[in-house]
Amino acid sequence: TYVVTQNCIRCKYTDCVEVCPVDCFYEGENFLVIHPDECIDCGLCEPECPAEAIFLDDDVTEDQQIFIEINAQLSEKWPNITERIEPLEDAEEWKDKPNKLALLIK
Ligand code: SF4
Ligand code: F3S
Repeated sequence: TYVVTQNCIRCKYTDCVEVCPVDCFYEGENFLVIHPDECIDCGLCEPECPAEAIFLDDDVTEDQQIFIEINAQLSEKWPNITERIEPLEDAEEWKDKPNKLALLIK
């Protein structure tokens, strides 16, 4: 399954949502997640993310492993998002900032 990782936090570009054939993205206030049971591993979303935040679970780096669990948990809780929306206002500023996990609004 594909996983949204840290660099989406406070950016939320949502280009990923537009290409997903099975609409398996779920939206929080400042982050999106992928439902692991719904993702069909098509890989279409990965190159669309301007923040390069999406990875196949097997390729998630050691320091981002927690996001596999975060995607699984929050996709059960958050509402489905099926259309692209405007990125967060200061997305460009927050893109590529390190240690954004603490800023994730669950
Ligand atoms: Fe959707 Fe495909 Fe991305 Fe999975 S890999 S979230 S099915 S676009
Ligand atoms: Fe997030 Fe990238 Fe999608 S920033 S909302 S994973 S396009």
